[in-house]
Amino acid sequence: MSPHPLPGALPAPRRPTADSVPSLRWGVLGTGWIASRFVASLQSSTTQRVVAVGSRTQASADAFATAHSIERAVRRATALVADPGVDTVYVATPHHLHRESALLAIEAGKHVLVEKPLGLNAIEAQEISDAAAAAGVFCMEAMWSLFLPRFDVVRQVLDLGMLGDVRTVLADHGEHFDAPHRILDPAMAGGSLLDLGTYVTTFATWVLGPASRVQASGSMTPRGVNGQAAMVLTHAGEATSVLHSTLLTRTPTAATIAGTAATLTLPGPFFQPGDVAVTSADGSRTLTWTEPEPIGHGALFHSALEAARCIGEGLLESPLHPARAVVRNMTALDEVTRQVGVTYAPTR
Ligand SMILES: NC(=O)c1ccc[n+]([C@@H]2O[C@H](COP(=O)([O-])OP(=O)(O)OC[C@H]3O[C@@H](n4cnc5c(N)ncnc54)[C@H](OP(=O)(O)O)[C@@H]3O)[C@@H](O)[C@H]2O)c1
Repeated sequence: MSPHPLPGALPAPRRPTADSVPSLRWGVLGTGWIASRFVASLQSSTTQRVVAVGSRTQASADAFATAHSIERAVRRATALVADPGVDTVYVATPHHLHRESALLAIEAGKHVLVEKPLGLNAIEAQEISDAAAAAGVFCMEAMWSLFLPRFDVVRQVLDLGMLGDVRTVLADHGEHFDAPHRILDPAMAGGSLLDLGTYVTTFATWVLGPASRVQASGSMTPRGVNGQAAMVLTHAGEATSVLHSTLLTRTPTAATIAGTAATLTLPGPFFQPGDVAVTSADGSRTLTWTEPEPIGHGALFHSALEAARCIGEGLLESPLHPARAVVRNMTALDEVTRQVGVTYAPTR
């Protein structure tokens, strides 16, 4: 492929604005860390309405509803999904409950935005997606990075061929966690892979497509969850991704997409809002897109806007993150999981 000359500037992101999509009535299932940030993000940056919250305990539901000024607080997931005033359920339970939570909402006829990972493996992801399609409701994995303005800049750089022939993807995700945290708990499908590893494998398969070969090496914590994993994926045309996830150490969490004409870098944390830099292969020129948004989980609302946009257009999945992309990622991650010797307790 002949190199695309670098233009004067990187493309501007094209993402839906808060007032360009219908205002959905959201029910939130789970009252933990991400649920709180998701609701705060919607309430501060969109016209989306969070009308109900569901928890395992009435006290927790009430406390969450009070903290976020939510009208209705219910004790059971079944009560939340049966609420006729809710049209979309945000699933924010731990990984091992995503399948159960999502299927419950889908069977009740609700659209679902399910926290990552959509399921514990490719089979669960496919099952959830198929159930939503059969029920005629929208379903999307809340892999929030893909809906950020930053990622739309990357999307356009790739689509325009500015990097030339993309040969290499590098990405890492290493974070520190204090006990007790569900990521350290084997009973909750803990370990680095489903929380952190899925970001790097999603990124690699998003850029390079499915993995034709997976080589992985990892280690377990004394409690029996995956501590860290190094992964090498081979994609079409022998393009390679070199990936790492760990809960044992804090790593740069940066990502690189290298092509024959130019190299794109996402300074860490690559999966959050942040800058995009593209440097010509000879190193003589760099273009930078500078992130106007503050870094952090305040940007979670972009995935809700994408869900609202799609639901408003009558779509059952997002063209930016369809079921086949989730299954493609989970298939690679399943093979990593197998090679590093992790098993997750069955969820049925
Ligand atoms: N997009 C992101 O940046 C991001 C960041 C963090 C996490 N996540 C994802 O979001 C999901 C939740 O993570 P989190 O960090 O928010 O977890 P968390 O703080 O532990 O919250 C999970 C919530 O699920 C509910 N729950 C239902 N059954 C449960 C059970 N058997 N054990 C524990 N909790 C149960 C609990 O709410 P009740 O007590 O009210 O029932 C709990 O507060 C995970 O799948 C994770 O991958 C995404």
